[in-house]
Amino acid sequence: MANLSVEFCGVKFKNPTVLASGILGVTASSLKNIVRHGAGGVTTKSIWLEENIGHKNPTMFGTEHYFLNAVGLSDAGILKAREETFPEYLKDKQAPIIANVVASKIDDFAEIVGEIDKLGPDIIEVNIGCPNVEDFHGKPFACDRNDAAKVTKVCRERTKKPLIIKLTPNVPNIASVAEACAKEGADGFCAINTLYGMTIDTTLRMPILANKSGGVSGPAIKPTAVKCVYDIYKATGLSIIGTGGVLTGEDAIEIMMAGARLVGIGTMVYYRGVEGFGLIVKEIDEWCEKNGVKNLEEIIGAAVK
Ligand SMILES: Cc1cc2nc3c(=O)[nH]c(=O)nc-3n(C[C@H](O)[C@H](O)[C@H](O)COP(=O)(O)O)c2cc1C
Repeated sequence: MANLSVEFCGVKFKNPTVLASGILGVTASSLKNIVRHGAGGVTTKSIWLEENIGHKNPTMFGTEHYFLNAVGLSDAGILKAREETFPEYLKDKQAPIIANVVASKIDDFAEIVGEIDKLGPDIIEVNIGCPNVEDFHGKPFACDRNDAAKVTKVCRERTKKPLIIKLTPNVPNIASVAEACAKEGADGFCAINTLYGMTIDTTLRMPILANKSGGVSGPAIKPTAVKCVYDIYKATGLSIIGTGGVLTGEDAIEIMMAGARLVGIGTMVYYRGVEGFGLIVKEIDEWCEKNGVKNLEEIIGAAVK
């Protein structure tokens, strides 16, 4: 059996699989359930300072190739995280927990990071894919390297815990955004969030989602995720949670070869169920066995030249 444990920003994971933000990560019991099924770590759904209602239904549409969602980052706010999610999860913690936070103003990012830091997560992940309401055009912070750097700077000032920035693939040069965040003290990255997408009901002649457009996830985005991870790793050399379209152990190996240290897994749950985590870990182990790999360090970034 290969050594599947990985160290990420000083935090030890028993295997590289991590539940991605937004999928079943709303309560302590659902997070614990994912760990029971084999995940090496878990990420909470994006946590806001205040409750955020999200978009109207329908918010989700799936096919065998991709999922499209416009959940709209619905969340009960920091109060629930403080009173339920963190104390309950940490009581008998079996695997590291990554707190994913979100805000729509720079000052609010600083405040939510300061608040979440007190709750004891292992790592803080900052989701900057949300539209920047301070910007006249309302583009996400992650779409502009200066905005991304400003958010990183204020978050860095509020925590000594490992701080990673979750980036969007909806930019011409993700490496340049990552470099700007690294300069302001980011310890690593999560890449990628969803791609912009829309699907139309041809009978009704209208978009299927109530929000009209949404974010594409699942198998179809894996090549984009692999390319983004590759580019960020090459530019910064920092730790990355490679996320996007991973359904199998071999998908996980592929994104690790592009430079990912951990592998974020979300939409897979719709295809393989929560049992998929244990199956993917088994498949990673089998792949290592077949290919004579004794330690995952041998494959992280192996394809980056
Ligand atoms: C239903 C759904 C909800 C999501 N919610 C969040 C969220 O709250 N915060 C976040 O940073 N990413 C969110 N994401 C993005 C995922 O964490 C992940 O980056 C993306 O789906 C790509 O990975 P996957 O193909 O394995 O799902 C969400 C994705 C889906 C499908």
